[in-house]
Amino acid sequence: MPSFWFTFSLFILISSFFSSSHTIEDDIKLSLIDFLQNLSGNNSDEVAKSFGWTISTDPCTDRWNGVSCNTRTGTLRKIILEGKGFNGSIDARSLCKATRLAVVSLHHNELQGTLSPEISDCKQLTHLLINGNKLSGSLPSSLSGLNNLKRLDISNNIFSGELPDLPSISGLRTFLAHDNKLSGSIPQLDFKNLDEFNISNNLFIGNIPQDAAKFGPGSLSGNPGLCGEPLKKPCQETLSKRKSKEISGEKLAMIIGYALLGFLVILLLAFMIYRRRKKKNSVKPVNASTTSELSEQRSPYSIGDDSNTASPVITSDLVVLKSGAIPELSFENLLKAPAELLAKSKVGSTYKVVLEEGRSTFVVKRVKDLKMLGKDFSKRMAMIDKGKHESVLPAVAFYCSKQEKLVLYEYQQNGSIINLLQGSGGGEHQPLTGWNKRLDIAARVANGLAFMHKELEDRELGHGNLKSTNILLDKNMNPLISEYGLTIQSETKSSFMDDVFNLGVILLELLTGRVVQNNGSELAQWVQSVVKEEWTVEVFDKVLTGETASEEAMVSLLQVALLCMNSSLDTRPSMAGVASMINTLRDEEEDRSIVSEV
Ligand SMILES: *[C@@H]1O[C@H](CO)[C@@H](O)[C@H](O)[C@H]1NC(C)=O
Ligand SMILES: *[C@@H]1O[C@H](CO)[C@@H](O)[C@H](O)[C@H]1NC(C)=O
Ligand SMILES: *[C@@H]1O[C@H](CO)[C@@H](O)[C@H](O)[C@H]1NC(C)=O
Ligand SMILES: *[C@@H]1O[C@H](CO)[C@@H](O)[C@H](O)[C@H]1NC(C)=O
Repeated sequence: MPSFWFTFSLFILISSFFSSSHTIEDDIKLSLIDFLQNLSGNNSDEVAKSFGWTISTDPCTDRWNGVSCNTRTGTLRKIILEGKGFNGSIDARSLCKATRLAVVSLHHNELQGTLSPEISDCKQLTHLLINGNKLSGSLPSSLSGLNNLKRLDISNNIFSGELPDLPSISGLRTFLAHDNKLSGSIPQLDFKNLDEFNISNNLFIGNIPQDAAKFGPGSLSGNPGLCGEPLKKPCQETLSKRKSKEISGEKLAMIIGYALLGFLVILLLAFMIYRRRKKKNSVKPVNASTTSELSEQRSPYSIGDDSNTASPVITSDLVVLKSGAIPELSFENLLKAPAELLAKSKVGSTYKVVLEEGRSTFVVKRVKDLKMLGKDFSKRMAMIDKGKHESVLPAVAFYCSKQEKLVLYEYQQNGSIINLLQGSGGGEHQPLTGWNKRLDIAARVANGLAFMHKELEDRELGHGNLKSTNILLDKNMNPLISEYGLTIQSETKSSFMDDVFNLGVILLELLTGRVVQNNGSELAQWVQSVVKEEWTVEVFDKVLTGETASEEAMVSLLQVALLCMNSSLDTRPSMAGVASMINTLRDEEEDRSIVSEV
């Protein structure tokens, strides 16, 4: 019965991928390649080639890097090229030859030039995320023609001039434009329906619309010409009605303001001098009292007798992978820094280490019992580091000697997806529990793992210790897979299959909201027993079923999870297979929400 069921659901899932024989036309492919060349600022076709964008391949079936398609309808839906260091410009005319694009995300590159009017040819655009670039000029008035737009993020650029007629975009949910040089008055957006709004640090002037006040001063400050609630600056009209006495009162306030500002500057200078002196004179004491583990005056990972001398020889043993980023990073500083034990398990302990008076915080993973020579460990770390994927947390540095293997990661303050499931999102963030977010996390994790499996195919080096506590959340609450390949003893085909099984467990956790204690088989059994009776919503997290999530999609993800956990290795899908199933689900959910929201 179960095996019939597995085969059946596998059939359904797989048939939905290959049912489409659509291909993208050559002129669209050529346009997209032009677009990528302009984006990279390099007219040689090497760049496009390195992303797999070639005329002889198909963007959808051959998976051009950064391109996602709706596999069912065979249409190009998303172009996501974030943080790739591109310093060219956005050739919107070529880009929007792919007229069905829904998502264009190019944030955190070094893009220059303007956003040209042809962007409105991408009529179905729902997400335009071009924040964190060096784009300039005024926004084209044609932008107001993008009436499917839900999320517009142009923040942290050099855009100037007045905003186009954005109020005509009725479904806009996000408008982030902070840190630009935009001017004019704030348009009358449909503030009631906006989730996110930030225009701080621009040159906007005039009254703040009443409904915009709910976003608080943080979303409006840094615009010297703005007045009214919630800023503590009343508007001119009311001022002129006041008596002259009050106006002179305002002048007084201004003088006091300047005096205060001067005082602050002096204070700041004094503080900076003090800090510099302090740094010169004092040697930072070892802060051992912060943790219970550190009963001795020594770092928890100090090494034999060398620890107190901290000779340059030791320093050089710390292999820094992320070059240039952190000047204060040395083995010596690590040993001196205060460390806090975060977690301890049979594969090793994890510490939080604060360097340079809190300027950088790292997580140090101390790997236990890894039967491996230091030389081989170094090779492995270098190899893992070669595979770079936005959902895989790269190690910052590592140290290995015969006795000790340490790996450093950047500390992620939002914790792991465990926090998310238990509704206690770390940091300032609200716990994110929605179905679309969970599906997105599932897809990103699967994509990251599929990428790594492909990169490390020759060595057959899997993650080896995949669990929800190892899936961290970055500052945008996107998942980061940490500790890839650290604890794995042997490189075998089955380490890939173990990852697939463990991803299945994580998918079940995301769906049910229950956290797995041991190896997940009990949870799988429970789910299967409920499922065998009849398809039922009972297994799903209550938080999800209360939402508008589609039960059908949740059931489909459940099927994927159970496929991953199939006891027979032969019927377990590969990670690439899992990724494409989840991507298809995510696309369909997005299309559904696009259709239902329009
Ligand atoms: C693309 O970039 C090149 C320079 O790299 C420029 O000459 C060309 O005009 C750009 N094309 C478009 C359509 O912007
Ligand atoms: C363009 O890319 C090619 C191949 O990657 C490289 O050799 C060349 O230096 C690049 N040119 C510029 C201007 O970056
Ligand atoms: C883009 O970066 C490349 C290599 O880093 C550099 O050669 C080129 O001049 C840059 N182009 C622009 C327009 O800044
Ligand atoms: C808006 O942007 C500013 C500037 O980047 C930032 O400091 C502020 O926290 C943002 N406000 C909100 C509410 O996110």
